[in-house]
Amino acid sequence: MHMAFASIATLLRRAGVLAAALVLIGLALPASAQTGGAQPQQQINTRERPMYGLTASQDAELLRALRGAEGNVSIPDRKAGVLIQPEGRHWRQTMQGTMRVVGSWLILGMVAILIAFFLLRGTIRIEGGRSGRLVQRFNMAERTIHWFTASSFIVLALTGLNVTFGRYILLPLLGPGAFSTISLWFKYAHNYVAFAFMLGLVLTFVIWIAHNIPNRYDVQWLAAGGGLFSRGVHPPSRKFNAGQKLVFWSVIIGGVILSVSGIHMLFPFQFGDIHTQQLMTVLHSVFALILIAVVIAHIYIGTLGMEGAWDAMGRGEVDENWAREHHSVWYAELKGQPAPKYGHD
Ligand code: HEM
Repeated sequence: MHMAFASIATLLRRAGVLAAALVLIGLALPASAQTGGAQPQQQINTRERPMYGLTASQDAELLRALRGAEGNVSIPDRKAGVLIQPEGRHWRQTMQGTMRVVGSWLILGMVAILIAFFLLRGTIRIEGGRSGRLVQRFNMAERTIHWFTASSFIVLALTGLNVTFGRYILLPLLGPGAFSTISLWFKYAHNYVAFAFMLGLVLTFVIWIAHNIPNRYDVQWLAAGGGLFSRGVHPPSRKFNAGQKLVFWSVIIGGVILSVSGIHMLFPFQFGDIHTQQLMTVLHSVFALILIAVVIAHIYIGTLGMEGAWDAMGRGEVDENWAREHHSVWYAELKGQPAPKYGHD
């Protein structure tokens, strides 16, 4: 077994390509965005400003005195009887502060891991080279459902990220007028495209559940790190390997949590009280950020990370050598051959 890691010269070449790309992105950003968007930061930090003529300490004292203050109202909307809900402040702090920090770490952390992985491993090549013979991997229905679900997820991810990060990234770039118009349209897109994603989720589950039940090959695949870190190692796998099953189950479980919490936000107070609403918004943000990080890794391996992977979802056919190296048991079953014990070499 040879170690997969690249020579110093290759590593420096790849680092050069990435550095050039980062410099170009850096040049494209205006100075205000690069300084971390200090201006809007000041605008929204109202916590230390005196509210209604009260100083911060008077305000805190008033809050303490009013803790749990509830009255009665005679209108049908009983929740209007709650004068103040102090937990709302923690919720706002979590959503505006903590979530932004957690989200930045998750997304930038994943991008950093993938850059490091690319620098060390490069694109995972078809070791036997392309044979020129193709086998069908995904039919038209599978590809349509994949791209339907994927495109709706990407719209939801981008329009959702605008809620958390837009005012720090887009507002300095576009100015308040254009930013508020775009954010309004993003919100409509998010609310309606959500139903397309939910449909895609159900269809994805139906077409691929049979291939995603854990089996004994998954243990071998995980024990060998999927062969990701060493050349010439190809743990056996049926149609989906353990890594892909992790992606599938993340999409399904994460997608269901996002759908349920999203429905609570689309129809507020229909299924619970203010505590339920607050819990649902936090769950929605946390699982959205986790799933976005998972999908970034998935997109990497489906494009730049692995030679031949794109063909599977692009034209639906893959090279026989790709199939034999990455999904040996699936390939053998397809050809009516006995299942290989370990890889092909
Ligand atoms: C530009 C974006 C995307 C690209 C290039 C891409 C690419 C691919 C490819 C090439 C495969 C087949 C892998 C194989 O043959 O073994 C695949 C499978 C799959 N994709 Fe995507 N995909 C994208 C976005 C998404 C999104 C947004 C989701 C879900 C939210 C998703 C969910 C899945 C699932 C569940 C599978 C099957 C399991 C797996 O192979 O990991 N994909 N994708």
